[in-house]
Amino acid sequence: MTLNRRLGIRHPLILAPMAGGPSTPALAAAVSEAGGLGSYGAAYLPAGQVREIIRAIRAGTSRPFAINLFVDDGVAAEPAALAAAQDRLAPYRAELGLPPLAPHGLQVPLAQVFPVLLEEKVPVFSFTFGIPSREILDACRGAGIFTLGTATCVAEARALEEAGVDAICAQGAEAGGHRGTFDRDAEPPLVGTLALVPQLIDAVQVPIVAAGGIMDGRGVAAALTLGASAVSLGTAFLLCPEAGTSAPYRAALKAARDDGTVITRAFSGRAARGLANRFTREMSGAALAPWPVQNALTREIRAAAARAGEAGFLSLWAGQAAALARELPAKELLAIIMREAEDALSQAASGLKPEARSLTPEACTPWPSSSSPSSPACSSAASTR
Ligand SMILES: Cc1cc2nc3c(=O)[nH]c(=O)nc-3n(C[C@H](O)[C@H](O)[C@H](O)COP(=O)(O)O)c2cc1C
Repeated sequence: MTLNRRLGIRHPLILAPMAGGPSTPALAAAVSEAGGLGSYGAAYLPAGQVREIIRAIRAGTSRPFAINLFVDDGVAAEPAALAAAQDRLAPYRAELGLPPLAPHGLQVPLAQVFPVLLEEKVPVFSFTFGIPSREILDACRGAGIFTLGTATCVAEARALEEAGVDAICAQGAEAGGHRGTFDRDAEPPLVGTLALVPQLIDAVQVPIVAAGGIMDGRGVAAALTLGASAVSLGTAFLLCPEAGTSAPYRAALKAARDDGTVITRAFSGRAARGLANRFTREMSGAALAPWPVQNALTREIRAAAARAGEAGFLSLWAGQAAALARELPAKELLAIIMREAEDALSQAASGLKPEARSLTPEACTPWPSSSSPSSPACSSAASTR
């Protein structure tokens, strides 16, 4: 059965979960209503709030949707590391008029929030930063909840498949937001989407969803051509009016350039891709607390900056193709992207570009004689088939 059918969606397009503000029930419901799979990034939120969000999504759509959580609960900081990280952030807190010491908490544990997903029988549970416990995966199977894990390399994909997940999101290095890498301290493997998707497809049997740098129908067509069963787009939806993207974040996205993103741990202690700003530049190489303590330590700084309209201290999570983001209602954006994908696929099939035409056997011209070295030649792909 196709992934579309298993998920109960019309288009092979997933709205990526975007915790920390951009995800809203309205955005998730709009994408599901438009025939894609809306997702909500519910990490950081307590169980009661997650339940309210699930109900709010259901109030907006009767179509399937996904709730996304972080598998890694993180670790507490050693006192010395905590003090060093707090010292490093103190000047920013002073600049924003905040008291010197930030509260530092851990992530709401997955085990505390997951029961809500089970009780509410969410259609899809997607997750990142590892593999949930056997109990959680068994409970999903028992309740008919589809599971979608995240892999940034072949080894992670194999481990997810072995654990019995239903599908895997291949998160290429272009992707905005946190890298899904299981090991929170390791340098994340920065394998790009074009390289990662076919390698995961060859490595595992479960359907692969491509994510990272896909902003329009060209990207969707490319990912499907690589063999992905669906695509997951995050940054592309950040400018939708339904998204919870703050005003300074929106302004930064509209000014984004092709080379504007960096991978930083400065905001959360985990590696994530976002638009470079004053904070990422000044915090490069600084003392940090581990995930998720660093995230808690910077929370008030980010909130105060958002209130002040100051993008310099915000985590401006964005993928490498952020400059292609369009400010359109989600339903319209999804319809346009799918139309573009159809156009791109039919253009590729009819080989409208001269370069593509040279790949078809009929279009092959004989190898040039040694006297005419500049004559066009068949590509090796065409000449060997
Ligand atoms: C603002 C933002 C927040 C994100 N939050 C999450 C999250 O909570 N959970 C998750 O699994 N992925 C998260 N991601 C990563 C996305 O799921 C997805 O892999 C990524 O957006 C794909 O790349 P793109 O942004 O180039 O489309 C986030 C991405 C962005 C841009």
